[in-house]
Amino acid sequence: MSIFDKIKAAVTPAPALELHDIQATLLFDRPDPYFGTHVLLRIDTPEGGRTLLSRLAPHVRSAADARGNDAAWIAVALSHGALVALEVPAASLESFPDTFREGMAARADRLMDTGANAPEHWEAPYGSGQVHVTVSIFAPDEASWRQAMDTARSQFDALQGVTLLGSHDFGAQPDSRNPFGYRDNISNPAIEGSPMPAAPSPDPAIKAGEFILGYPGESGVPLAMPSPPELGRNGSFVVLRKYRADAAAFNRFLRDNAETPQQQELLAAKLVGRWRSGAPLTLAPERDDPALGADRQRNNDFGYGDDQAGLQAPPGCHIRRMNPRDSKLAVLTDVNLHRIARRSTTFGPPWRADLLEDDGAERGLFFIGLSARAHATTEFMQQEWINHGNFVDLGKERDPIVGTQPEDSTYTIPQCPVRRRIHGIHSFCTLRGGEYLFMPSLSALHWLSQPNPHKQAIFR
Ligand code: HEM
Repeated sequence: MSIFDKIKAAVTPAPALELHDIQATLLFDRPDPYFGTHVLLRIDTPEGGRTLLSRLAPHVRSAADARGNDAAWIAVALSHGALVALEVPAASLESFPDTFREGMAARADRLMDTGANAPEHWEAPYGSGQVHVTVSIFAPDEASWRQAMDTARSQFDALQGVTLLGSHDFGAQPDSRNPFGYRDNISNPAIEGSPMPAAPSPDPAIKAGEFILGYPGESGVPLAMPSPPELGRNGSFVVLRKYRADAAAFNRFLRDNAETPQQQELLAAKLVGRWRSGAPLTLAPERDDPALGADRQRNNDFGYGDDQAGLQAPPGCHIRRMNPRDSKLAVLTDVNLHRIARRSTTFGPPWRADLLEDDGAERGLFFIGLSARAHATTEFMQQEWINHGNFVDLGKERDPIVGTQPEDSTYTIPQCPVRRRIHGIHSFCTLRGGEYLFMPSLSALHWLSQPNPHKQAIFR
């Protein structure tokens, strides 16, 4: 983008967002604590699919109704297979990006989903082309979760032409801890015009068009939008990736590479860039500060400008890779073009510090990333920021949390006088499946539930 375009984008007033038409999940963080379910459905007949969407649409929460994230909501997303099954006109299908049309499994090479992460090892039904509709219920408490789940279920139970493929519950861990024991749901981009109050951070607010189709993006113009506008506008794209987390291997790694429990916690913080309490190393470099970790007004208010060498937060730690903020990068990159809104959810029994052997329980995380270019951003992150280290001068070193680690991989912790290089870091997360999805606006859900002659007419 030229300097002229940047100035123009900065001074042009942001258009008001059509909140009544945008799904709440796009703009609101998930509740904290949270309960919920992801439901996966297949459309067997166009009529069944249209009926499903017309029944679900009135229950999908809009960003105007969200009034904060303290009530249960239902969100709906569709795969390319859903649009085909709904007999969306070919001209419209062709207007979607190739990434979405091909689907996550077919993009495995670009995502570096190889070895144990390759689609041939995924759980059914992911990657089979059968996941057409995902219905996600997010709730702040168990009672409202069950109520919202009953509402959602009654829209597809016994509905002809639609098959329930599976459902997966997820839920709050104490202090919103993820499968490795870290507080999450902390850092998300501030989106211009969003009613969700952003936590204080020196990161600039990002133009709404980077997240919602139909509004100007960082370049000053909207990103390419699927046609017709009735379908594309106020929608977004979603990346869903189900990870199994090997919490016992992670705990063993900490034990084997640190002498005392305190040093283990410091090593855990050096891998992520935050203490397990959520306190960022940049603000609490020596010891944990749980009050800071829990304080939304303070726990994301930092940059790396005074720590370019990474003596506090290592350049290769998870959060510095995923959002380098003001780090000086070895490869010129506009960080604002690679932000993603996360609505990830943890599943399985709560994390335990004393878990050293696999107890057979399924623990993990559904990574959910949203943006108007979420698929391309995730492919970029997987290639450049997760499974490579050149951009931070770390050669072939990979992300210590989600990177796929080849034999004898290393992790570097800058320190004085000599850096520490740990050998033999494992892959702690295994991809169990995933899908590229489109999150339509509420009016697009109605449009999709119309019979086809109505839709064809738009292209005549
Ligand atoms: C099981 C897998 C994963 C685990 C356990 C994990 C864990 C974490 C934790 C503990 C944080 C810090 C807390 C927060 O800001 O919410 C975080 C932040 C983040 N993660 Fe992950 N993550 C995982 C997968 C991913 C993947 C696959 C991506 C991207 C493709 C990703 C992108 C991010 C981003 C963008 C941030 C915020 C960074 C910032 O703004 O400072 N994560 N993650």
